[in-house]
Amino acid sequence: MTSRLTHIGIAVRKLEAAEGIYRDLGLAVSERMVAAQEGLRLAFVVAGAAAIELLEPLGPGGALGRFLSSRGEGVHHIAFKVPDIEQAMATARMAGLRLIDERPRGGVHGTRVVFIHPGSAHGVLLELVEEPG
Ligand code: CO
Repeated sequence: MTSRLTHIGIAVRKLEAAEGIYRDLGLAVSERMVAAQEGLRLAFVVAGAAAIELLEPLGPGGALGRFLSSRGEGVHHIAFKVPDIEQAMATARMAGLRLIDERPRGGVHGTRVVFIHPGSAHGVLLELVEEPG
C-alpha cells in the first residue's frame, strides 16, 4: 500500500492573518471553508504536491480550541493520503498505533479520514485520508 503526504495541518488563531504569511512567501490560498461539525474554519494553501491546511477554531471549547489554549499556534497534524482507509486502519492497528476514531469520519471534499493518537506516533498527530472515487 502506497501512502503520500497530502497536507500539514497548522492551528492558528485567525485564518486571515496566517494566510498573509503564506501569500507573502509566494503561495496561493486556494479556498476557505467552515467545517461546523469539527468546530473550525479552514483554508488550504497550495504548496506543490501537498498543501498546508490552516485551522482556526470556531470557539474555545472544541479540540482545536483546547490545543491552541495549551500549546499555542503551530503544527497540529500531518496527513497522508491512503488508497484504502480500512486497510490503512488495519495496518496501523497491527503496527501498534492507537486510532482515535473507531471508524472513518467525513472530511472536507468528500474524503474519509481517521486520526492516529500522537501518544502512539512519537508525539505527532497523524491523519489518514482516503479521497473519494
Ligand atoms: Co487535516
